[in-house]
Amino acid sequence: MRVRVPLPAPKEHIYNIAEYGSGLSAWSHKPRTAGSNPASATKFKNYFMTTQFLFPIPVYSSEVKDIGNIQVEFKKVLEVIEFKKKDIWHSDIQLLSDPTFSEDLIRKHNLKYFEKELFYHLVKYAKSVGFDYNIPYKTISWLTETTKGQYSHRHSHGPCDVSGVYYVQTTGKDGDLWIENAMNQMLESSLFFWKYSPERMYIKPKVGQLILFPSWLKHGINRNETDSKRISFSFNIFFDRTAIYAGLV
Ligand SMILES: [Fe+2]
Repeated sequence: MRVRVPLPAPKEHIYNIAEYGSGLSAWSHKPRTAGSNPASATKFKNYFMTTQFLFPIPVYSSEVKDIGNIQVEFKKVLEVIEFKKKDIWHSDIQLLSDPTFSEDLIRKHNLKYFEKELFYHLVKYAKSVGFDYNIPYKTISWLTETTKGQYSHRHSHGPCDVSGVYYVQTTGKDGDLWIENAMNQMLESSLFFWKYSPERMYIKPKVGQLILFPSWLKHGINRNETDSKRISFSFNIFFDRTAIYAGLV
């Protein structure tokens, strides 16, 4: 025989986080929730509680080891290239060595020291995200020149795997790289946006610094308000997906 058991009356499960060592105990308003009940507090203290940060975005930053040889390589390239505007861009946007984004300066000018260094850091970056395979890849790469009043608009690098930048010439004050929060829906909550989810993160450029990031990540460069000319080297990396799909890794 089935016995019909009445459902218990719903309980209020909201509790005052200030009582559980959250760091928000400075909040002084009077608790108005079930958590202010001492019995309830004891019960929660016996639970294992943790907060995990899911879906982190890997952004790699390192100084290059062989800065002397790499800087000599770029100095030689800068003596022979000409920076151009990309027609469809706003007139204040930085200049490019190749507005078509089809060249690979690493190959074209045999930047062997930079190529070797890039490989080293790419492997470290890949391992840091759990990718430990030796996959062939191609690059396209270009130099940018940013003079007073110029900036780089909000953009991403399209359908490639990893993108990055190396700083050839900068004072550190001629335009920070900013990276947009890909989880911008977090900004809608006053609980999260304050510390862990700002709208943008900024990276101050430094000569010899190499940064790697997922190509889809939106970013830009602050306007150069100084009289100094800022020069950086950008690149896109395309892993050989036929090798991946063929199970060669
Ligand atoms: Fe970019």
